[in-house]
Amino acid sequence: MSRILVVDDEESMRQLLEIALGKVGHRVTTAASGNRALKLIETDSFDLVISDIKMPDMSGVEVLRYIKQAEPSVPVIMITAYASAETAVEALRLGAYDYLTKPFKMDELKSNVENALEKRRLKEEVVHLKRELQHKHGLDNMLGVSSAMLELFDQITAVAATSSTVLITGESGTGKELAARAIHVGSGRASEPFVSINCGAVPEMLLESELFGHLKGSFTGAISNHKGLFEVAHKGTIFLDEIGEMSPTMQVKLLRVLQEKRIRRIGSTNEIEVDARILAATNRDLEEGVREKTFREDLFYRLNVIPIHMPPLRDRREDVPLLAEHFLESSRKTTGKNISKISEPVFELLTRYDWPGNVRELQNVIERAVALETTSMIQPERLPEKLQGVSDAFAGERDTLDQASFPEEGIDFNAQVSNLERRLLTAAMRQAGGVQTKASKLLRMNLRSFRYLLQKYDLR
Ligand SMILES: Nc1ncnc2c1ncn2[C@@H]1O[C@H](COP(=O)(O)OP(=O)(O)OP(=O)(O)O)[C@@H](O)[C@H]1O
Ligand SMILES: [Mg+2]
Repeated sequence: MSRILVVDDEESMRQLLEIALGKVGHRVTTAASGNRALKLIETDSFDLVISDIKMPDMSGVEVLRYIKQAEPSVPVIMITAYASAETAVEALRLGAYDYLTKPFKMDELKSNVENALEKRRLKEEVVHLKRELQHKHGLDNMLGVSSAMLELFDQITAVAATSSTVLITGESGTGKELAARAIHVGSGRASEPFVSINCGAVPEMLLESELFGHLKGSFTGAISNHKGLFEVAHKGTIFLDEIGEMSPTMQVKLLRVLQEKRIRRIGSTNEIEVDARILAATNRDLEEGVREKTFREDLFYRLNVIPIHMPPLRDRREDVPLLAEHFLESSRKTTGKNISKISEPVFELLTRYDWPGNVRELQNVIERAVALETTSMIQPERLPEKLQGVSDAFAGERDTLDQASFPEEGIDFNAQVSNLERRLLTAAMRQAGGVQTKASKLLRMNLRSFRYLLQKYDLR
């Protein structure tokens, strides 16, 4: 059912249209004048407007002009009493969907109405899909509340607006690919292809053909012409993942493409111009590669025009609860399991853990917990042992406290805490064989604070 506004000063015409369109299931509102129509449009929303052109107080063309300003996506069909080519053309120029000349056949009007409504539906669908796409890969999908992430979002938004080459660095699982997609989606190239290739996963010969393409017969196995990803990404974005794994020969070839913006398919003498925005990512330290001569310095500078660094999760623990809830929500959707909460002790364990596998590891942990959970809340027992281990090492302490009953006169809190501190230090020193740097790491403490405590408790 669509909402249609009929504007006509002639009552019989209003009635006729109201009945005819009502019969095919539309909800029709009528207005006897242009002024009345504008008021209705202001307060109500319509999917389509049908307006007479010649009316006493305000012409239909003015109504049209107003609608195209206020609600440009609403189609307007004009009706004229006589075929005045000029007004009709003017109406079309102003954005009317179509016009009909009185007298017209009802069928003609109805098909006109249906076409206009269908077109509007399709347009809305496109807008909706675009928004969804944006939501899927845009910044919206990259969550974070830590200042590091907020800064990163700003950086990505700024970079997206340019066509510069970006080198994304960061540990495994920190969201490098997600960032690359966000850059693409936020750029003017969003409606063009985004292609991604893992340079570390493809053997050298194949990589060249994947990137630049080949002609039929150019090597054994080249049974037909093949378009390379640089060509596929023309006007769009190409994401070169694990760039640090690229062989020296391929590095030279890639450098040439970056300099000349042209590629040559294997076996071809023709050069093809390509306009692909290049994003690259690595979890290696490329500068070290440059120093060790495993990565070309000139290529490094070509790629590192704008560096973006993805911070490891352990450096932004504030993001853990938000991400955990996000992954719980998506696992809940895919599994259909009715688990809506994460218990408080679980949050605690999650926030304390170091996440060597970063966000991906967190995602896996939540997915696994959802799969194992039988209650409606994620319980600590559903977490992998390594996460529980953090506190289990001192389960003894916890257990005695769980059953603790304080004496009437109370206990000395500070003395108790000091006692625990001293025991932790001693235990760490014992495990580290007396090496202070090692022991401080076991307690995730910087060396200076560690030494201070050693002195305080006279443990040197
Ligand atoms: N900020 C974030 N918000 C939501 N999801 C995230 C975020 N960061 C990463 N993820 C998710 O974590 C997973 C790993 O991210 P991604 O593949 O982008 O990491 P990566 O840095 O490319 O890892 P690798 O180096 O292993 O290829 C993906 O499923 C991604 O959707
Ligand atoms: Mg990746």
